[in-house]
Amino acid sequence: MYCVKNIKDDLFWVGGSDRRLALFENAYPIPKGISYNSYVLLDEKTVLFDTVDRAITGQFLENVEAVLGGRNLDYIIVNHMEPDHCATLGEVVRRYPDVKVICNAKTVPIINQFYEFGVDCRAVIVKEGDMFSSGKHTFTFYMAPMVHWPEVMVTYDTIDKILFSADAFGTFGAMNGNLFADEVNFEREWLDEARRYYSNIVGKYGPSTQTLLKKVGDLDIEILCPLHGPVWRSDICWYMNKYFAWSSYTPEENAVMIAYGSIYGNTENAANILACRLAERGIRNIAMYDVSSTHPSVLISEAFRCSHLVFASATYNGGIFTSMEHLLLDMKAHNVQNRTVALMENGSWGVMAGKKMTEIISEMKNMTILDQSITFKSSVKEDQLAEIAALANAIAESLK
Ligand SMILES: Cc1cc2nc3c(=O)[nH]c(=O)nc-3n(C[C@H](O)[C@H](O)[C@H](O)COP(=O)(O)O)c2cc1C
Ligand SMILES: [Fe+2]
Ligand SMILES: [Fe+2]
Repeated sequence: MYCVKNIKDDLFWVGGSDRRLALFENAYPIPKGISYNSYVLLDEKTVLFDTVDRAITGQFLENVEAVLGGRNLDYIIVNHMEPDHCATLGEVVRRYPDVKVICNAKTVPIINQFYEFGVDCRAVIVKEGDMFSSGKHTFTFYMAPMVHWPEVMVTYDTIDKILFSADAFGTFGAMNGNLFADEVNFEREWLDEARRYYSNIVGKYGPSTQTLLKKVGDLDIEILCPLHGPVWRSDICWYMNKYFAWSSYTPEENAVMIAYGSIYGNTENAANILACRLAERGIRNIAMYDVSSTHPSVLISEAFRCSHLVFASATYNGGIFTSMEHLLLDMKAHNVQNRTVALMENGSWGVMAGKKMTEIISEMKNMTILDQSITFKSSVKEDQLAEIAALANAIAESLK
């Protein structure tokens, strides 16, 4: 049975959610599921905004059919040609053979790579600033390359002031009946997942996201329709500011994350002692993670949130403990920058973790490594407590 939601007058959400998928992009755990949003506009011409992932094909096709109510589908606007939004494009074209596909020039070859139906005869190619009218509504298109793929664009309804923003402003998390962000406690229930989505999926492309934010910053946006997660019709500025911080690699909070990589628990012990010393200096909400038991996507997300990052690692076969090395390389790949870093290393015969961690972090932009880094030999000794206290002082001072 169809399951659709009215957004405004003639605009409907026809997407769906997947709570069975373990790994989004076969890489990121999604314990709260994910939604694939798609929208239908019933104007003089009917318009579908993107399609959905293969997993929810049946629900989506029923939804589209129900909203169209026997009308033909005139246009599909393809804002993003990644399979989580275009896996059902071929089926839509088969069901509505007269449909025209509105997309930009970069999208055409990608459609032809994924599909055999030959889009050229039905393509309406648009470029930056072009207008398209479906009757009462007129749309403008803004190119958003690399937010998250090169062909991405966003579509703005100039009449109802609605931005169809593709992956931008999306989040992990299945829809729970409440379609609108103002119907949920977004900050409490969704923000962490929104940050994890942005930082891991789009985080590498901060400058591209900044360019898009500048373009849409001048628009009067009353409703924001992303391809994943809730639709926004209030507090859009608040959410945009989060995006502004994330995409400019500005710490979202003055906060400390401690991530440790420990085999037998001695490095973990050092991390715990440091955390206690930080708390005694008034630092609240310290986030502490074992890198071996925490998914890297959580740690990437926390690195985007926190201003201060402590990495504590045992030496492992002449290098950094594997899961810590993976995290640091992942952070570098995601362009994490502008952070204050403190290091703690441990080892029993040839301590190397600190040097190797410094090498990776030094290749990242604008990272300040505090001088008070500490070396442990196998376990924390009484005479090193002062060093830990000094590191806590340095972190507390730098947080001010
Ligand atoms: C597989 C393995 C490889 C290691 N390689 C090194 C090494 O190359 N250099 C070194 O100083 N210590 C090495 N160590 C020792 C640990 O770094 C050291 O015992 C450290 O104190 C462990 O801290 P933890 O208690 O937090 O696991 C290795 C340990 C293991 C289990
Ligand atoms: Fe995408
Ligand atoms: Fe997506």
